[in-house]
This record gives sequence, structure tokens and C-alpha cells, in this order.
Amino acid sequence: MRPWTNRTVILAVIGMTLLVLGVAAMFLWPVLFNHILSQELPITPTSRVLDLWRSTGDKIPLNMEFYFFNWTNPEELKIPGKKPNLVEVGPYTFIHKTEKVNITFHPENGTVSYFVRKYWYFDPHKSNGTLNDTLVQLNVLAVAAANKVRYWDEFYQSTVSIILGQVSSIHIVKTVDEMMFTGFKDQLIDLGKLAMDTEDMHIPAYDRFGWFYLRNGSTFFDGHYNVATGEDDIANLGIMKKWNYTDVTDYYKSPCNVVEGSAGEFFPPGRDTDDITAFAADLCRPMIYEYVGKATHHGITGYKYELGEKSLGNSSFRRYPHSAAKYFERTTTTEDFFHADYSTKKSAAGYSDPDVVDMGKCYCNGECSPVGVINITACRYGAPGFISLPHFHKADPILREQVNGLNPNEKDHSFYYLLEPNTGVPIDVAARLQVNILLQPYDFVTLFRDVPKIYFPCFWFSMRAGTTEDLASSLRMLLLVPSIGLYSSIIVAIVGGIVLLILAVIQYSQKGRSHPKNSKLKRHGWVSNNDSKEKRSEHVYMDTTTTPDDNERTDRQLYPTLN
Ligand SMILES: *[C@@H]1O[C@H](CO)[C@@H](O)[C@H](O)[C@H]1NC(C)=O
Ligand SMILES: *[C@@H]1O[C@H](CO)[C@@H](O)[C@H](O)[C@H]1NC(C)=O
Ligand SMILES: *[C@@H]1O[C@H](CO)[C@@H](O)[C@H](O)[C@H]1NC(C)=O
Ligand SMILES: *[C@@H]1O[C@H](CO)[C@@H](O)[C@H](O)[C@H]1NC(C)=O
Ligand SMILES: *[C@@H]1O[C@H](CO)[C@@H](O)[C@H](O)[C@H]1NC(C)=O
Ligand SMILES: *[C@@H]1O[C@H](CO)[C@@H](O)[C@H](O)[C@H]1NC(C)=O
Repeated sequence: MRPWTNRTVILAVIGMTLLVLGVAAMFLWPVLFNHILSQELPITPTSRVLDLWRSTGDKIPLNMEFYFFNWTNPEELKIPGKKPNLVEVGPYTFIHKTEKVNITFHPENGTVSYFVRKYWYFDPHKSNGTLNDTLVQLNVLAVAAANKVRYWDEFYQSTVSIILGQVSSIHIVKTVDEMMFTGFKDQLIDLGKLAMDTEDMHIPAYDRFGWFYLRNGSTFFDGHYNVATGEDDIANLGIMKKWNYTDVTDYYKSPCNVVEGSAGEFFPPGRDTDDITAFAADLCRPMIYEYVGKATHHGITGYKYELGEKSLGNSSFRRYPHSAAKYFERTTTTEDFFHADYSTKKSAAGYSDPDVVDMGKCYCNGECSPVGVINITACRYGAPGFISLPHFHKADPILREQVNGLNPNEKDHSFYYLLEPNTGVPIDVAARLQVNILLQPYDFVTLFRDVPKIYFPCFWFSMRAGTTEDLASSLRMLLLVPSIGLYSSIIVAIVGGIVLLILAVIQYSQKGRSHPKNSKLKRHGWVSNNDSKEKRSEHVYMDTTTTPDDNERTDRQLYPTLN
């Protein structure tokens, strides 16, 4: 005998369907969400964020703050026991805008190419000082000239020494504007032009020097970008494929010369706690940011990645499979790659991994520097430029002890990306770097004969960028989608489960009663003092015991509550 009615069957089917759907949705929802992301995030001509990507600054105002180190005792440089006194002045704040020009989409290989044009507008209200403030700084041109001739013949060095002694001193007094955008004339520039190597001929015809001279409004300095749009594979979103038309640079030895990492704006969705990499065109190299923990910005929780040991150190080991060599263009020969300084460092298991490279060595490019400074001499046409975090934060303490006036702290001087992990969207970015010049003794150049060796801080900048409250609230909505999906799936599954459970309980209780032997006992147990309940049980009892065949059962009342 089968105590089933059509209604039971329908309910059972509904319950089962809900349960299956709910459970399936629990697993499928993330897939669906990822599908939505892979449709929405890529950089395409019709992308919703295209305008924002094309030109930042109109919608998201970026402030770039510059701080200079004013050298107040240059006359004491050669006195033993005296350190340079540096007084931080600023901020000199600029509104910073970037726009991408000559944007060309290449659907055939899933990339987009463009140049970047940058603008700076001085903002006197947010500045502590004016562009006419005077600064005393190390004479970068003289240091660069001395550095350039140091491997020349002694005779030529002496000649340069005489010229330097006549036209230069070790420090310069210039206004902030001259040091940055307007630039200043100097006889050394003309001299330098004569000494310039032919390979440097592609640089603009400098007639003045300034850290940002000719940079305002120019597309020259950042070079040509070729970036994956993420259309083919969302895991490639925003990844640099080529820089200046090649996937390797001339500035470092293999494999440190590889163009890789994000172009800095987009990161593929689904972030984990692995390091992230972003290519820094100003430094001609990728930089690694290490996961440090979670943080919240505008109510959104993100993963925080900071510039640390792996980029700042002088020996950071990294797995770099030999097989990767085949992806490099012919400018880096595979041979070159195999000559890379592979580590002899033993792994935990006790054998050395042939694919582990000491990245510190290939970035040293000659003489190594202490932890905390990055040698960009090669990227700056031979001027001994070194990049660090402001105030030598996270650097070898020796560096800041060489001068007076540096006080690093994590809050003001770290460089980090805060990424929303599901979408990979940067919600808060603090880009901060300091520019230093290596001052060191040059025996044949009188001006520099007895100087101490100092990584001399010149200036640093800080740029905070992040989602506005507007963007943050759209992002929060988007992020609710997976949670809403998950919770609704769970609710659907639970409803289905409850329906099935109720059916099961009822079936079970009726099965017991349908047995003639047990029926009396069961009935006693079922019947309560409550009248309606008694009535209900009667019905059920009747229903199960008096339905001998299927045809009759169809119009029976299963649920007493429906009476
Ligand atoms: C920098 O130092 C010089 C001399 O020590 C001083 O004249 C000048 O005003 C200082 N600049 C600023 C911006 O404080
Ligand atoms: C402005 O600069 C002066 C000296 O350069 C400094 O003493 C002062 O603390 C600065 N103010 C702010 C708000 O940074
Ligand atoms: C940069 O260029 C823009 C437009 O040409 C100009 O308005 C702005 O003042 C310039 N900024 C500086 C710091 O020279
Ligand atoms: C993609 O194609 C364009 C146009 O042919 C080319 O310039 C670019 O270098 C290619 N990028 C890659 C990564 O192959
Ligand atoms: C920095 O890089 C240059 C050029 O690659 C190299 O000659 C020099 O030895 C490196 N290190 C230092 C400390 O200058
Ligand atoms: C690497 O950095 C450390 C700490 O600053 C320094 O002691 C060491 O000499 C550097 N290594 C090389 C090869 O210069």
C-alpha cells in the first residue's frame, strides 16, 4: 500500500527542486558573479569605466604633494664628524591629471596601446609655501658629470675637474619652480651634451635642468604602453605586455629586464594574499607589493599590499622558471637568461632549486646598494639616481644616519595599494617615493675629492588616490550581489529542505499507523487534549488507512489544516 497522494508528490517534487536549486545556486552564484565581472571589467571601447580610465583627474582629483629637503649647512660637508642638516619643506601641492592618448585597441591579441600625458597644476591653497621659495640642494648636475667621467682617462677627468671647479659648486640655490618645472640653465648642461653617448640621443634636447622640466603636458616620459584588456582572459586584466614596443627593457640584466605586472590601474579580480606586481615606467622596472593584511576604506574591506623587502632589498630570491625564457623577445637571448644569477640557496627540503633567481643581483647592475634604495642610474641616462621610500623608511638605518633631519614613519611614508579582493579594484592607493643622488668621492675631480659617500635625499612626493564616496557606494552595491545570491540560495535550499522534512515526518507517522497492529497504539500516542489536533489526526488516520487503491486516493484530503 502506498500512502501517497498527488499533492504529496507535487510537494515532494517542489521541495526537492528547491533544495537542489538552492544548493546548486550556492555553488553556481560565484561562477555567475565572476561571469558578470568578466563582462564588466575588461577595458573595451564600450566599457562603462572607459572615460574614467581614459582621463583621470576630472572625476577623481588627484593631489600630488612634494616635499623638498633644504640643505642648511653645505659649507660643512667636508668637515669630519659633521653631517648634512636637511630641513623638510612643503608640501608644494599640485593637482595631477593624466590622460591616455592615441588609444588603439587590438582585439586580435586582446591588448590596448596608448601614451600617457600628465599635467600638474599648482594648488597654492593646499601648499605650505610658494613656488618662489628658495632651496639649497646638492648640485645634481655636477655629481652627474663627475659620475659620468669617472671611468675616463685620468687626463680627461682632470680637465673636467678644472671645468667643474670653475663653473660649479657642490650645492645650488634655486627656487622650487626652477628645481621642478621651469628648470634652470647651467654650463654643465652644454658640456654634458658634448659628452653625451649616441645611444642617449633619443632623449629630448635639454637646455635646462629641472626634475620635471618638459614633463608637464608631455607624452614622452612615460613611454608607449601595450596592456592586456582582459577580454580574452580576465586574469590578464590591466597587465603590461609591452613597454616602448618591447617586452624587455635595456636597463637591467635578465630576468630583471622583463616588462611585467599591472599597468597600475587595474588588477585582475579574485585577489589572494600573494604579492602583486605593478610596472613603474619612471623606474623602468616592475615593483613588487607584499600582502600585509586587511584594511577598510569608505566601508569597503580590502587587501593591503605594501612596497617592502622584495623590491627594496638587494637579494630577494624569486622563482623564475627557465621555461619562461621562451616567452621573451629575441632582445633577451635565452643564453642571457641562463646566465642569470641563479641561486645556490638551499630550499627547506635541502636541495637547491634551479629556477630560483637572486633578483637583487640583476637589479644591482654593478655595485649593489644597501637595503632600501633602488638604483635607477641606467634608467636616468647615467645620472646616479636612487629611489627609496620617503625618509628612508624600511631602509638600512645607516642611510638615514648619514644625514640629520630624517624621521620615517609608516603612516606618512609607506607605499601601498588597497585592493577590493573580489573585483581587484584599487580602493585606496598611496604612492610615495623619494629621489636621492649618490654623492661619493671622485679622486680626480677636486670638487668631490674629500666628500663622504652619502645617498643624498633631494625630495619626495606623496600621491593618494582612491575611490570617491560615489564610486565606493556603487562598488558596495556590486559587492552585495554575491552575498545576496548566497543568502537567497541558502534560504531556497532551506525552504526545500523543510518541505521535504515535513513530508517525511508525515509519511513516517502515517506509515506507522497504516500498520493495523500498531494503529491503536499510534492513535493513542497521536491524540492530544487539543480537539483540533485530534480531528486532524483522525483525518490523517483515515486518509492513510482507508485508501486501498491509487484512484481513490487522488481526491483525499491530506492536510487536516486545510479543512
Ligand atoms: C632653505 O634654507 C635657506 C638657507 O638656509 C633659506 O634661506 C631658505 O629660506 C630655506 N627655504 C625654505 C623654503 O624654508
Ligand atoms: C609649513 O612649513 C613650516 C616650515 O617650512 C613648518 O614649520 C610648518 O610646520 C609647516 N606647516 C604645515 C601645516 O605643514
Ligand atoms: C602645466 O600645463 C598646464 C597646461 O598647459 C598649465 O595650465 C599649468 O600651469 C602647467 N603647470 C605647471 C606647474 O607649470
Ligand atoms: C598586439 O598587437 C598589436 C598590433 O599588431 C601590436 O602592436 C602589439 O605589440 C601586440 N601585443 C602583444 C602583446 O603581442
Ligand atoms: C647603479 O647602476 C649603475 C648603472 O647600471 C652601475 O654602474 C652602478 O655600479 C650601480 N650601483 C651604484 C651603487 O652606483
Ligand atoms: C645588501 O644590503 C645590506 C644591508 O643594507 C648590506 O649590508 C649589504 O652590503 C648589501 N649587499 C651588497 C652586495 O652590497
